[in-house]
Amino acid sequence: MRRIALLTSGGDAPGMNAAIRGVVRCGNYLHMEVYGIERGYDGLIKGNLKRMDSRSVSDIIQKGGTILKTARCPEFNEEKGIRAGAEVLKAYGIEGLVVIGGDGSFRGMSDLNKLCGIPSVGIPGTIDNDLAYTDYTLGFDTAVNTVVDAINKLRDTMTSHDRACIIEVMGRKCGDIALFSGVAGGAESIVVPEHEYNIDIICDKMRKNAIKGKVSDIIVLAEGVCSCDELKKEIESRINIVVRTVKLGYIQRGGSPTVGDRIFAARCADLAVNLLAGDIQDSRVVGISGGKMVSLNVDEALAMKNEFDEKLYSIAGKLAF
Ligand code: ADP
Ligand code: F6P
Repeated sequence: MRRIALLTSGGDAPGMNAAIRGVVRCGNYLHMEVYGIERGYDGLIKGNLKRMDSRSVSDIIQKGGTILKTARCPEFNEEKGIRAGAEVLKAYGIEGLVVIGGDGSFRGMSDLNKLCGIPSVGIPGTIDNDLAYTDYTLGFDTAVNTVVDAINKLRDTMTSHDRACIIEVMGRKCGDIALFSGVAGGAESIVVPEHEYNIDIICDKMRKNAIKGKVSDIIVLAEGVCSCDELKKEIESRINIVVRTVKLGYIQRGGSPTVGDRIFAARCADLAVNLLAGDIQDSRVVGISGGKMVSLNVDEALAMKNEFDEKLYSIAGKLAF
């Protein structure tokens, strides 16, 4: 392939810029022309493309967000929108596409390939870590580090004031951000969508800790279970401990990517460009499984069921005992 394009789509994630840089530079290294599409599928339909050379991605490896900007584009859920996007790619002579995003973005990429035959490669860019075929998604490591930093700071204040704190984190329907940050931040309870929570167990643990002299429990709550305010009400109606709530929100999506995310971005970009250079015909996704970089057909990848890390969840229970 001589000419490829790339876009970022769905929620932004730290490391997307490192992946953009990787795709542009690995593509240029193989003498490919690389075009950046602004604002995801929306920019594709509108023809917002620009040629990117190695210098155009200078000084972005350390930056959060995405210099290509991102968007959610409902038109791309319809055949008309997909065909409009394909026409733009054809007009620019684009032979292959790299999509950096989550499962929704991958579905768009797959539909584009099925309807119009454009080969594509997806790089898993989402803080949620909710894609079954890959052990990690780009941005997850940074997001978890951001949450742990917040837990450390909140613990200082909660300990000083003898208060408990519920920290609500993102993850859509996946409890990984809550689980990993909860374990790394030493949370007393972790509430995830993969397990029905038992308010009596949470309160019992808080009561026992209070008897031992500790009333500054940290509870990490994944979004999608209930709101932190609802959980606070439930707890305060059962025990006499002051509970504060913090919803971390978009803070988890921004920030400079960790070393882990930057290295993963580099590996994904290199593999994605090599697949396109090898003239694949289908739509594929890249990721990491068991420590090794992998690529597989996007539909096979999306059909896989995400498995929650039950082992780590049970370790979390022991550590908070
Ligand atoms: P993410 O990629 O982070 O999961 P979304 O689910 O919001 O984010 O999807 C991002 C974009 O991908 C959507 O706004 C839409 O343009 C496109 N998309 C999502 N689902 C589909 C689908 N089933 N078919 C075609 N395009 C889709
Ligand atoms: O997919 C990333 C994510 O931040 C999820 O964790 C969250 O549920 C969602 O996006 C929020 O979406 P929006 O950007 O539309 O508020």
